[in-house]
Order: sequence, then C-alpha cells, then structure tokens
Amino acid sequence: MQRIFSMLWLLIIYMNGYAQQAQIVPGAVWHDTAGNGLNAHGGGILYYNNTYYWYGEIKQGVTWRVPGSTWENYRVNAGGVSCYSSKDLLHWTYNGVALPAEKTDSTADLHISKVIERPKVIYNKKTGKFVMWMHIDSPDYRYARSGVAVSDRPEGPFRYIGSVRPNGNMARDMTIFQDDDGRAYHFYSSEENETMHVCELTDDYLSHTRNDHRILIKRSREAPAVCRYNNRLYLFTSGCSGWTPNAAAYAVADSIMGQWTEHGNPCKGADADSTYHAQTTYVLAVPGRKNCYIFMADRWNKNNLEDSRYVWLPLIFNTAGIPGITWKDQWKITE
Ligand code: GAL
Repeated sequence: MQRIFSMLWLLIIYMNGYAQQAQIVPGAVWHDTAGNGLNAHGGGILYYNNTYYWYGEIKQGVTWRVPGSTWENYRVNAGGVSCYSSKDLLHWTYNGVALPAEKTDSTADLHISKVIERPKVIYNKKTGKFVMWMHIDSPDYRYARSGVAVSDRPEGPFRYIGSVRPNGNMARDMTIFQDDDGRAYHFYSSEENETMHVCELTDDYLSHTRNDHRILIKRSREAPAVCRYNNRLYLFTSGCSGWTPNAAAYAVADSIMGQWTEHGNPCKGADADSTYHAQTTYVLAVPGRKNCYIFMADRWNKNNLEDSRYVWLPLIFNTAGIPGITWKDQWKITE
C-alpha cells in the first residue's frame, strides 16, 4: 500500500513538472500544454488582447551539414513558423503553424530546402493586420533577404507576400521593434554581417522607407533584440559565430536613428562569456510591470537542432540604467 502511495506521489510530482511548469527553467526541455516539446526557435513575442503569442522557427527532423560548406552550416528542413499562446508566459498552448513551409515548389522562398529564421510579429493598429518579418535565405546563406507575411488573426495563417533586400542591402539576422508611437523599425545584420542597419518601416509595416541607418559599423554583430527603458533604447546582440555561442554585448541610444553607443556584455557570472551557452533572440518588456524585462535566447544544438533549448532570464536595469543578466536555475516573473 505504501509503495502504491509513493508511486502515486511520484507520478503527481512528475505530471506537475511536465504539464504545469510552475517556473521558467532556462535550458530545460519545455513543453506546451498538450505535453509536446515546444518548437519555436529564434523567436519573438507579440502581446495582443491580454495574451502573449510566441512565434518561432520550427526545427524538426534530421540535422545535417550542408555539403561543401566551409563553415559549420548545420541545418534541418525549414519547417515554417509556429505560434503558441499564453496568459502567463509559462503555460503555452500550441496554435499550429502560423506560416507553413512550401513542400513542392523548390524555387519558393518558403521551400523546405531554404532558410526561414528569426520570425517577429507586430500588430498594425491602422490596418488591423498582423505583420510577420523574417530572415529568408538560400541554404548557403547567399540570398540574404527579409521576408514579410500578413494575417488578420494573431494565430495565422499568415499569407506570404515576398522577400526584399531592404534598400538594396543584404539582410540576415533581424528583429522588429515597435515603438510606443506606433512606428516600427527593422534591425538587420547587413554587409556580410559586418554592419547592423536600422530601417523605419512604412505605416502599414509592409515595406521599408528610405530612413535606413548604418549602426555598429564593422562590428560584426547579429541576433539583435531591442527594448526601451526610461526614454533610452537598448540593443542586445551576439557576435558572429554561427550556432556556437559567444559573448553578448549591448548598445544604447537616445533615439532610434541617433547615435548608438556600444557597451560590453550585460551577462554576469559563470558562463557569461558564452551568454550561458546561448544566443539572443528577443527582449520582452513585460507589459504593465516596471523594470520587468525578459532576455530570451536560444541554446542551439548544432548536431540536433530540434533539441535546441530556450534560455530566458530576467534582465534588470540598475538605477544608472545599466542592464544586467545573471543565470538562474529557475525563476518566476513575479520575482
Ligand atoms: C547564426 C544566426 C542563426 C543562424 C545560424 C546559422 O549566426 O544567428 O540565426 O542563422 O547562424 O549557422
């Protein structure tokens, strides 16, 4: 009897940890509310109608190295973009594939043989549309473009419009930042990943204006993530070393199109020099909370990309406005 009781008890503990993750556990396997592995890499968050939507790359199936590549070009078939939703940033319900990959037309941007990375979605109040921007590339990463898709609902399905080189520039790793005044900006690694660009999008968010600035010139930064804190803007990036992690850095500006001043690594403590074995993807300013930011990163597993993990950590600004990130085995947003 005692044995049955303790087995039941273990089962309860296991189920609780499995389906009802009560805390954020960076680097662990994360599950959705149906108990399936959460598949949303290089992702970003949209907050809409009191709900968080998490969009990310679907990385599923066999990982291989692209033949003839001189660098560690490991990949899986492009799986499209997934969408999960949550009320508390802990329990994520799978909403399905927001933007599917194309299985037959091998010339299409979204063909499974291509690269679909770092999707970011924002809502346009004026048009009532949800707009997704993403990095679109060929398997050898020479295509270097930005793709855009649109939807009437946050869950999708998104309709792919096409891809561009913004103002004729190469574009790889990217993020979209929507400012409080409704203007949206595209940050993208350009010029062979040597120089970051920031470009204002048009009012409908579907194309680029000519307001396109070069920042972090020849600094070779990628994986950009942007937030606003106390009237200043903060841009977090990684160095360029493929799937292998490196040290993050941040830059600060008083206005988006102004001067970006570079600073060092916001990460502290053990493993700070590898961003805790991860790479930036997004910074979430948690709505309705002051000085509550989440630094979101991907812990890539280049040999099995499907098993890449999520490293979410609190990002805290001190009284001088200096951002700091420290490792936590597990944590809660209320802390
Ligand atoms: C990284 C980039 C990832 C992915 C990877 C491919 O530098 O941040 O998004 O493109 O390279 O190796």
